[in-house]
Parts: sequence; structure tokens; C-alpha cells
Amino acid sequence: MTKRVLVLNGPNLNLLGTREPGTYGSETLKDVEALCKSAAGELGLSIDFRQSNHEGELVTWIQDARKTADGILINPAAYSHTSVAIHDALRAVNLPVAEVHLTNIHQREAFRHHSYVSSVAFGVICGFGSLGYKLALEALAQKLK
Ligand code: DQA
Repeated sequence: MTKRVLVLNGPNLNLLGTREPGTYGSETLKDVEALCKSAAGELGLSIDFRQSNHEGELVTWIQDARKTADGILINPAAYSHTSVAIHDALRAVNLPVAEVHLTNIHQREAFRHHSYVSSVAFGVICGFGSLGYKLALEALAQKLK
């Protein structure tokens, strides 16, 4: 059976392409989605790609994934550094989680160095831009074999 991956993007990632291009580059979230769809096709995965600016909506989508997904790829964006609720939801659903950040969060401000998601993820990728999403899908495909 085709494995299903829920790809979640947190707040402000809808602004990719225009948001701080010096930091995040010129690719839009649509470009990232296209890259994920093509990578998923090659890997034999199906993906559901979403973005929300709302913590509660992300929590609900994570809870729903119990019935609709086999794994989760998440770029929690700023919620990485603040959200116990997203940590708890990911822990509760008990699906393999890959955490992705476009930028190298360890090279940036100190408040970005800790992520509440990392301890519930089987792996974390940061600093490789949108390539990180592709690498994380590859890791999830391996994990879900
Ligand atoms: C980010 C890094 C976070 O610190 C930041 O709040 C984001 C994006 C990244 O992809 O590099 O919004 O998750």
C-alpha cells in the first residue's frame, strides 16, 4: 500500500519568496510543494501538503493524522521554539516525525536553538533550504518501508 505523509508548514511560511529573501531565499511555498510532490512521486509516497498560521489548527491536523497518514514531515517554523501543544500532539499520535527547517537554526539567534519538536522527531534536518524537505521525505520513505 502507498504510504501517506502529511507535510505541515507553520506560521509565516506562506510568505516564502517575499519574506526575508536574504535568509529564506526566493523560492515560494508553492515551489516547495512542487518539489515535495515530485520527490514523493519518485519515492512512491502520497503527500498532503499544508500550511497554517494557527497553532490549534496544526494541532488538529496532527491529531487527524492518526487516521489519514503513516508519517509526518513538519516545519513548525516559529512554533518549534514555543509550542508544547505541538510537541504533545506529535507525541500522542505516535507516527514517525521528520522535522525540517530551511535555515540552520543553530547559526541564528539563541531563541531558535531549541525546538520542542526535535525530541519527538526521529530526525531533524536544517540549513539545506528546500532540499531538506526532499531529504526528509527520503528518510520517511525508508522508515515506512
Ligand atoms: C524556520 C526557522 C524558524 O526559526 C523560523 O521561525 C521560521 C522558519 C526555518 O524553516 O528555517 O519561521 O523553521
